[in-house]
Parts: sequence; C-alpha cells; structure tokens
Amino acid sequence: MDIQRIGIVGCGLMGSGIAQCAAEAGCQVWVKEADEALLAKGLARIHGAWDRGVAKGKIQEAQRNEWRQNLHGTLAFPTLAECDLVVEAIPERLDLKLQTFAELDRVLGVSAILCTNTSSLSVAQISPVLAPHRLPRLAGLHFFNPVPVMPLVEIIRTLATDEDTLATLRGFVQKLGKTSVMAPDAPGFVVNRLLVPYLLDAMRCAEQRLATAEDLDTAMKLGCGHPMGPLHLSDFIGLDTMQSVAEVLFDAFGEPRFKAPSLLRQLVAAGRLGRKTGSGFYRWDGEKRMEALPL
Ligand code: CAA
Repeated sequence: MDIQRIGIVGCGLMGSGIAQCAAEAGCQVWVKEADEALLAKGLARIHGAWDRGVAKGKIQEAQRNEWRQNLHGTLAFPTLAECDLVVEAIPERLDLKLQTFAELDRVLGVSAILCTNTSSLSVAQISPVLAPHRLPRLAGLHFFNPVPVMPLVEIIRTLATDEDTLATLRGFVQKLGKTSVMAPDAPGFVVNRLLVPYLLDAMRCAEQRLATAEDLDTAMKLGCGHPMGPLHLSDFIGLDTMQSVAEVLFDAFGEPRFKAPSLLRQLVAAGRLGRKTGSGFYRWDGEKRMEALPL
C-alpha cells in the first residue's frame, strides 16, 4: 500500500519533524494536537523551517506553498479517520499512549496502520487497547532528532506485525528519502542500545575529571568523525530524556553501563536539562552551544 494520507499525533519536536518530511514527500498530512496553542506552535515550527529554506534560496516559493497545502491541523481524532497510517509522537508516558491508541483504533478504518515513535517503551505494550484485527498493523517507527536531517528510521515489529505492514512501512520510509533498518521490540531498539551507554560513559569520564567537557567532545568529534561530541549530543537530546531512557535500559538489562551516572541525576535535579532549558553541560543561546558550565 502506498501511504497517501498520514496522521501524526503530537506536534512537538519529533511529531513536527515527521509531519514536515511527510508533507515534503507529497503526503496529505493531518497533525493532531491536544490544544490550539500546541497545534499553532507545532505548525509554526514547520512553516518556519520552510520559510528559512526559502530565505536561504534552498526552497522555491511555489514548492513551499505546495508543501503548506499538504499540511493540516486538527484537535479531533475523528479527522484522522481516512488516514492510511497514523504515527503517535506524544510524550513517553504509557498511560497517555494507551488512551491515544484506544481512540485511534476506534476511529480508523480496518486497513489503517498504527505506529508509535517511542524510543524507550515496548511497542507490544500498546496491543491490549487495540482490536485483535489491528494487531498485525501495529509497529514502531522510530525517527531521530532532528528528523528533517537524520536519514535513519528504525522499523520495529512485534510478534504480531504482518509482512504487508512492514513492506508498506519500508516503502513509506523510502518515500521520505530516508533509510530504514529493522529493529527488535527490545528496550532501546538498536541505536539507543548502543548510543546510550556511550553517552553515559562520557558523563562518567566527566565525573572522574578525565578531561574537560570541551576536550571530551572535541576528542570524539575530531578523533572519530562524530558530528557532535557525547556531552554536546546529550545536551541536544535533553538530559531528562537521557535519564529516563537510561532508567528503562537499566531496569531491562541490569547492566552497570546503562545506569544513569550521579552527575546526570544532579544536573537534572538542578534543572540543567540541556539545550531546552538553556543550560546542561553547556550554556545554550537558543540553538547555539556556548561555553561549558562548571560541574
Ligand atoms: N531541523 C531542520 N534542519 C536542521 C536542523 C533542525 N533542527 N538542525 C540543523 N539542520 C540543518 C541545517 O539547516 C543545515 O542544512 P544545510 O546544510 O542544508 O544548510 C544542516 O542541517 C547542517 O546544520 P548546521 O550546519 O547548523 O550544523 P551541523 O553541521 O553541526 O549539523 C546536526 C547539525 C545535523 C544536528 C549534526 O550536528 C548532527 O548530525 N548531530 C548528531 C545528531 C544525532 O546524533 N541525533 C540522534 C539523537 S538520538 C535520537 O534522536 C534518538 C533518541 O531516541 C534519543
């Protein structure tokens, strides 16, 4: 099945990035948010990205206008009734996700595919609120931040996901101009299972004063060709998110490498959550990383 009409629930950083990519790929995109203010903020983020593209001469005005017409907002689940695919991108709280999926299951057609963009919960945990006929059409579709730039999407199958659904999702990811990998429905999937212990280890190195934050980041950036060093990237992801992903992985595997270091807990407790609060390992001026802060 070729995905033509897609619903996105949640228009935060991830939801708006997914909506942006789908609208650019020619899909009719319906974004559902909880209230007018959140919806306006999410849509403005997407329009802002396109407007900056036009201002830089990277996007033609006609192209931008066409993409804008592909993008619609709603506050009501029934507006998503005709969608071929709905991707949920709301906060990582199982109770909220279960409510959302129960609503979606009620309003969507029988052939619609339901996906979650969760990065830390199990996809199969959503199954109990779905009708049995929907289970083969439930999967994970895990995008990376910033969605418009990162070329990977993990596709997560449960034991019930069928081959048609996986083929449709692979085709959809390709339509977005991205590459998919199949990942197991296990905590952290593939990328976070490997990435998170590395980032936590860098924090332990900072804690043990192995090197300054800047030197740790410069070492991995220039020594290994990473686009960002590990503390910079942790700030970029959000230190509260890092802590909660670490807790999920440590609960699941019990290995010390997944344990949140005490420095991470202290930074989160101090409200230094990284880019989103203007301070973490670094001070941030909006999107721009500034000097390292005392630890
Ligand atoms: N949205 C859209 N476009 C963006 C963007 C954003 N938020 N941020 C940067 N870009 C674009 C810029 O416009 C620029 O485009 P052009 O070259 O066409 O002008 C391009 O990306 C490069 O940006 P910059 O020159 O400003 O900066 P950069 O070269 O340092 O790249 C970066 C920025 C793409 C974020 C890069 O540093 C990078 O790849 N960092 C690593 C990000 C990463 O690892 N993400 C995964 C996080 S883990 C995760 O998401 C999973 C999870 O579950 C926690």
